[in-house]
Amino acid sequence: MTKNTSTRIESVLIETRVFAPDATASAGARIASMAAYDALCKEAADDFDGFWARQAKANVTWTKPFTRTLDESNAPFYKWFDDGELNASANCLDKHIGTPVENKTAIIFEADDGAVTKVTYKELLARVSQFANALKAEGIRKGDRVIIYMPMTIEGVIAMQACARIGATHSVVFGGFSAKALQERIIDAGAVAVITANYQLRGGKELPLKAIVDDGIALGGCESIKSVLVYQRTATACAMVAGRDKTFAEVLQGQPSECPPVPVGAEHPLFILYTSGSTGKPKGVQHATGGYLLWAKLTMDWTFDVRPEDVFWCTADIGWITGHTYVAYGPLAAGATQVVFEGIPTFPHAGRFWQMIEKHKVTIFYTAPTAIRSLIKAADSDEKVHPKNWNLSTLRILGAVGEPINPEAWMWYHRNIGAEKCPIVDTFWQTETGGHVITPLPGATPLVPGSCTLPLPGIMAAIVDETGKDIPNGAGGMLVIKRPWPSMIRTIWNDPERFKKSYFPEEMGGTIYLAGDGAVRSADRGYFRITGRIDDVLNVSGHRLGTMEIESALVAKTDLVAEAAVVGRPDDVTGEAVCAFVVLKRGRPASDEEARKIATELRNWVAKEIGPIAKPKDIRFGENLPKTRSGKIMRRLLRSLAKGEAITQDTSTLENPAILEQLGRAH
Ligand code: WT7
Repeated sequence: MTKNTSTRIESVLIETRVFAPDATASAGARIASMAAYDALCKEAADDFDGFWARQAKANVTWTKPFTRTLDESNAPFYKWFDDGELNASANCLDKHIGTPVENKTAIIFEADDGAVTKVTYKELLARVSQFANALKAEGIRKGDRVIIYMPMTIEGVIAMQACARIGATHSVVFGGFSAKALQERIIDAGAVAVITANYQLRGGKELPLKAIVDDGIALGGCESIKSVLVYQRTATACAMVAGRDKTFAEVLQGQPSECPPVPVGAEHPLFILYTSGSTGKPKGVQHATGGYLLWAKLTMDWTFDVRPEDVFWCTADIGWITGHTYVAYGPLAAGATQVVFEGIPTFPHAGRFWQMIEKHKVTIFYTAPTAIRSLIKAADSDEKVHPKNWNLSTLRILGAVGEPINPEAWMWYHRNIGAEKCPIVDTFWQTETGGHVITPLPGATPLVPGSCTLPLPGIMAAIVDETGKDIPNGAGGMLVIKRPWPSMIRTIWNDPERFKKSYFPEEMGGTIYLAGDGAVRSADRGYFRITGRIDDVLNVSGHRLGTMEIESALVAKTDLVAEAAVVGRPDDVTGEAVCAFVVLKRGRPASDEEARKIATELRNWVAKEIGPIAKPKDIRFGENLPKTRSGKIMRRLLRSLAKGEAITQDTSTLENPAILEQLGRAH
């Protein structure tokens, strides 16, 4: 990369360093210059429908071609390619049969203990088909919802692909979520089956999955579940309910390894993925088959410029949207070889990622800023896990996703992993967007650390005020996308009203997508920089958590908690950390020791209600929470307290100013 390094310190807000792609990055790239990017943007602006129709024809195999591109008659319930038919699994697997890709490795699986298994496209198709037949034999049909609660394994990808193959709508629940979270999702989705594993292996530990499924179902209301299919990941036995539960081996027995893919309409729900919003209840983000599949394929080409010889590695879990689009669908639709990793970046040592890049000759590496930051820390304190110990020279493109990447982490990634030659694509997107929406293009975009740069062609991103009016470059506002795009969220499962309210505010006309993030465009280049959520959503280690969700969990501990408020505060490694302000029924803890004991009890409770990722890092006890005269919790004040900042807000309405002192102490 050619550099233009200024002397300013790295953490300043206005970043002036620019890294233009050098000739090697641009050579042969699909979009090899800003002129080529501009031309695509112009094509989309001049002929929006035509542009998308051409992309959908070129990138998706349709069993029935579409004649309508975009239907806006019932906006914001947009429909794309809706009279077309396709199958997502056929677009990831069958389409490669009879091409040179069929005998190519589709997945290089590295287990927690380092054991490696590979499957070719042909083998993967056979295994997906066989499992799809097993699902059919269980009575699962097109349109049924299936919960997938699986570890990172080839079998996890197979489960998703097999659902897609028969037209069943999957809803993957991250393996770190609790029994309660699982139960809520089963009920909301009305799922007929759960696909799970007996245990998952992470960091040398065997953690139960099936037992949590049993607990979730036992919480009640899950009568829709007719079968629980269990992949035996480890030799350890787990309890099985007769008639309901079957092992993979049992259901696969005798099933043929051919299963014709079921064509579905383009708008057929491929999956529902639950994510946090600003109320206590997670939202079932519903994605459509055609537009989503198009996006998964197109962004593999545009953002990663994936080539036949690439080894692609996205470290995200299939329980998150990143693992859907850039593990389960995108790499397969693109015919790429990809690494799937079961374990964690710090086991058996914090050089595991770098070691795996060397071992599998990874060329495109895509991970989260939080992982980079924690590995920087580890490398700083232990030379032995520093990336310099491994040969990373196969890398050609790096990616970041999930949260803003701070310029320091960007520079470290650039120098130590990318050898100052790999473009870094800082991809901004959301569960709702289905795939990248604002991102650099590796062969074209000059990079600025900490900026996700410019929208993909056809993405009409803008920054506006509350009324939807454009805000000039250099000033902050709300990030919106003014026109629909193929992979956008279609609705919230079971809650179309909430869909409209959450994403298409009336004050902006009701048809413009509101992302929920604040952003600013640079005065010089118009580059986007995301400044963080503008709603009550936190981003902890790239995981999305609703403050209300954690508050509801805390107050559900009725024997202890009278009231609770949750805010985020900055954290060096996790980006944001959960900070809970709690009023106990019994009054303030009498001693530090008691406070610590109760804090531990509350953390474990939250882990049980939601999952360990939602555990508050700080818990602060007060005899009351700061409120306005009208009784509203003063969240801005709490955020200042959480950060340990001087209080600048007006506190004259507080009945008891002493609580500020109480709430200033974390446990
Ligand atoms: C929120 C979406 C995108 C898949 C993983 C997270 C934040 C995501 C970036 C980025 C700054 C980012 C936003 C967004 N975010 N990527 N490159 N720069 N912020 O998906 O769980 O739906 O979370 O993650 O705040 O709204 P998600």
